[in-house]
Amino acid sequence: MRKEAVRYLRCPYCSGGLTMTDGALRCSQGHSFDVAKQGYVNLLRGAAKFSADTAEMVAARADFLAAGHFAPIAAALAALARETAPAPTGGDPGCVVDIGGGTGYHLARVMSEFPGSEGVLLDISKFAARRAARAHPRTSAVVADAWDALPFADGAASVVLNVFAPRNPAELRRMLRPEGVLLVVTPRPDHLRELVEALGLLRVDEQKDERLADRFSAHFTEVARERSRSTMTLDHQAVPRLVGMGPNAWHQQGERLKERVALLPEPCDVTLSVTLTAYRPLV
Ligand SMILES: C[S@@+](CC[C@H](N)C(=O)[O-])C[C@H]1O[C@@H](n2cnc3c(N)ncnc32)[C@H](O)[C@@H]1O
Ligand SMILES: [Zn+2]
Repeated sequence: MRKEAVRYLRCPYCSGGLTMTDGALRCSQGHSFDVAKQGYVNLLRGAAKFSADTAEMVAARADFLAAGHFAPIAAALAALARETAPAPTGGDPGCVVDIGGGTGYHLARVMSEFPGSEGVLLDISKFAARRAARAHPRTSAVVADAWDALPFADGAASVVLNVFAPRNPAELRRMLRPEGVLLVVTPRPDHLRELVEALGLLRVDEQKDERLADRFSAHFTEVARERSRSTMTLDHQAVPRLVGMGPNAWHQQGERLKERVALLPEPCDVTLSVTLTAYRPLV
């Protein structure tokens, strides 16, 4: 946890400001949260939820992303962040936040566009938070539930990212400054289509973009929408990592997956297809 990032956070119990002393974040009401030796802080109210990515899923994600297969998404996200972020005013620039940010791969790429800002990643998985805390020299990581009240101060963020992860529009609006921007990446129906067919993976809801727009319309105005579509070339090691790093990991395991992967061509072309949407908070 970087001391420069603490001012953007708030106590999950009383919403008061936090300060960092003796290896812990503390509010004036006496609530305190230890900084783990791996650098992240757990601000979860209550026990960890079962939706948290496991150590195996996070390791699969880290390996898969390190090979650069999702680089087109990170590049498109960074470009959209640069184009839509509020212009610097000379005051506090506000932080860059990634909600459900996993290992910090996308946040680290986006941080290079914001040299004077702090990056804070929130994820419910401590395994993700451990990696995210060292994803970039200016990132900090907190463990918290994206569905709950978020441990960020009102108007703390100038940019919020949300990539293939849960989102709570009312809280995202509260934590964004009025001129800030929320960037959401969602899969399109043809995302990973070759593997959906061959391996029986979960399908993307055809109405996903429309449902997202509906849920956001009470809190945000859409200001940009673009698509990123490209082809990944994957070998037989990369495919199980891709399956194992996301929600399919809960359904697809072991020998059956190995058998099906063995039947794929090698290398195998797989479609990467997402929508990136930029939103401004309604004020
Ligand atoms: C499909 S992964 C995407 C990770 C990252 N955004 C990326 O694209 O590399 C979904 C992430 O959301 C996290 N997650 C799941 N439920 C969550 C919740 N309720 N609150 C916060 N994070 C959650 C998981 O632990 C996981 O890291
Ligand atoms: Zn408190």
